[in-house]
Amino acid sequence: MAERILQGKVAVISGSGANIGEACARALAEAGARVVLADINIDGARRVARAIEDGGGEALAWPLDLADEASIRDLFEAVAERYGRVDILHNNAADTRAEQLAADDLITDMAAETWDRAFAVNTRGTMLMIKHCVPLMIEAGGGSIINTSSGVSILGDIFNPAYSSSKGAINTLTRNVATQLGKKNIRCNALLPGMIVTAHARAMMTQEQLDMVERHTLLPRLGRAEDIAETVVFLASDKASFITGQIFSVDGGITTHQPYVGEVLAGRPTS
Ligand SMILES: NC(=O)c1ccc[n+]([C@@H]2O[C@H](COP(=O)([O-])OP(=O)(O)OC[C@H]3O[C@@H](n4cnc5c(N)ncnc54)[C@H](O)[C@@H]3O)[C@@H](O)[C@H]2O)c1
Repeated sequence: MAERILQGKVAVISGSGANIGEACARALAEAGARVVLADINIDGARRVARAIEDGGGEALAWPLDLADEASIRDLFEAVAERYGRVDILHNNAADTRAEQLAADDLITDMAAETWDRAFAVNTRGTMLMIKHCVPLMIEAGGGSIINTSSGVSILGDIFNPAYSSSKGAINTLTRNVATQLGKKNIRCNALLPGMIVTAHARAMMTQEQLDMVERHTLLPRLGRAEDIAETVVFLASDKASFITGQIFSVDGGITTHQPYVGEVLAGRPTS
């Protein structure tokens, strides 16, 4: 039985109909929060909400399109009507559709629409969620905002520059929100997951590729959705009440070293 450190709190989580968002929503509910599962994939959100309710928790599934401010406004109007407060906002969703990520390749060939879509959903969507949530948090006396960024936000890579840049902007947004809203008792932090092996990731990668990622991870295993969920629950809770404006990597240490050094220069994998 999980410690009920979020008993009585109301949590809104975007993109909670599958994978990492699902694990986070389940963990927030297990810690006692009433959870609002907002997703463009409403069937997924309804499935997860039902599972949470079957387990004795309280959950509401709501359709959300982060690219549409009216949809975000509707979400928070519904939350205000149902609960009258928000204590926790987890901005988890991102546009990770295969066609979006495939088009997000070489900058020299980049269609402006591909770049704009990444920013419209991932960055502008996150900003608008915060904009429409904050009045409810202020009414509740404060709250915790957790933005899911990515390890790639602090690196350069050979593909997905729009996705990475949109996540880099989330890191900067996080520090600005923390700065503007700290005196209202609203904390804002960002999480940078490394490679998290969800069902989706498993379907996209071969075992050989997964083994390669594990070899370069400092800890002796790959990342799981639950690793992100545990961190979200901690940051949402009063245990993190003096932590704001921080950018946390949850990646088994993969971004703390240059992976090629050990392998190429010392003939040893990882370190
Ligand atoms: N899986 C990883 O290895 C990894 C690594 C780094 C960062 N992340 C980040 O973690 C978060 C979750 O990743 P995941 O692997 O579970 O991805 P995922 O694609 O399974 O989940 C994304 C969720 O966002 C929702 N979504 C997409 N567009 C939306 C929109 N316009 N409006 C509302 N909801 C929308 C999807 O329906 C889905 O439920 C994302 O922000 C992702 O960028 C994941």
